[in-house]
Amino acid sequence: MNASKAPPSHHVLVTRPIAEAPLRRLAEFARVDMWDDDLPPPPEELSARLAHCDGVLSMVSDRFDENAIAAAPRLMVISNLAVGVDNIDLEAATRMGVAVGHTPGVLSETTADLAFALMLAVARRVAESDRFVHAGRWKVWTPRLMLGRDVWGATLGIIGFGAIGQAVARRAAGFGMRVLYAAHRNNSEVPHSDSPSEENGSQPQLTELMKLLRESDFVSLHVPLTPANRHLIGGKELAAMKRGAILINTARGAIVDQAELAVALSTGRLGGAGLDVSETEPISIDDPLMHMANVVITPHIGSASHATRMRMAELAVDNLLEVFAGRLPRHCANPALKSVGRVDPGSV
Ligand code: DGY
Repeated sequence: MNASKAPPSHHVLVTRPIAEAPLRRLAEFARVDMWDDDLPPPPEELSARLAHCDGVLSMVSDRFDENAIAAAPRLMVISNLAVGVDNIDLEAATRMGVAVGHTPGVLSETTADLAFALMLAVARRVAESDRFVHAGRWKVWTPRLMLGRDVWGATLGIIGFGAIGQAVARRAAGFGMRVLYAAHRNNSEVPHSDSPSEENGSQPQLTELMKLLRESDFVSLHVPLTPANRHLIGGKELAAMKRGAILINTARGAIVDQAELAVALSTGRLGGAGLDVSETEPISIDDPLMHMANVVITPHIGSASHATRMRMAELAVDNLLEVFAGRLPRHCANPALKSVGRVDPGSV
């Protein structure tokens, strides 16, 4: 009897280098083709490689629209190394029988850390002070140097109260902040019934969006990008914000109307912004936000800690392996799909 293992029958494209341990685990069960560059494969290269793949471990910076999915006839699963799946046409994937996996839960605390880091950085002018010192402009201690805003004791409005929004609220409690929160438009993240909804100084208070915007010194966004949430924060919402308030976005750039944000900042309506995401990524060097001292911009690094990226990669591999075993991904972003298996286009 031949005891050697049968060669893996599934073929997976990993679209960027990921941590070694999960990659090795994946390679035990599938033939892995890894795109060994931090820049994405060009679209023609991606579709050529996908043509013979059963699964793909993808990034938020890879687009899977209807055509891309249709052009990969063997594809059974798209496993995104992210909680957000706005880079994938979920409806088309479901229609074609392609399961979409994602990585919720494992990145909430790390992303909340970054939201808080941005809040502190903008309010206390950390990045601006760092540039000032490095430029050799620091001459002496003086009482007027780099005056900022207090985070402690301020009012924080959290829009989207899922796992990440709640993790931000826990941090805010340690800063003695008053926390208001609003659920987002498709309501899938309305907190459990044990979440307090009544006025209570030390507990997050469920608050109607416009009231939250009027009363908050800081507003932090934690909603997924869906068609309903595109430009959720537009001119009207920015105008409703407290004069001098600070906006933090670690969710998705298109949740905010970026042109309107630049206007609100340049007129002094807003006091600053901390942005980990932008409407187009990378943000253009010519974007007005790039030239404002009160705007701190980071390159979409919300979940970028060694430990969290490892957990995300492990979960993304789990999602692929579940599908290869005939089950839906452990975390499935298109639960309307009832079973795995490519749907014959003729039958759609
Ligand atoms: C996500 O998980 O959606 C992030 O944007 C990428 O870490």
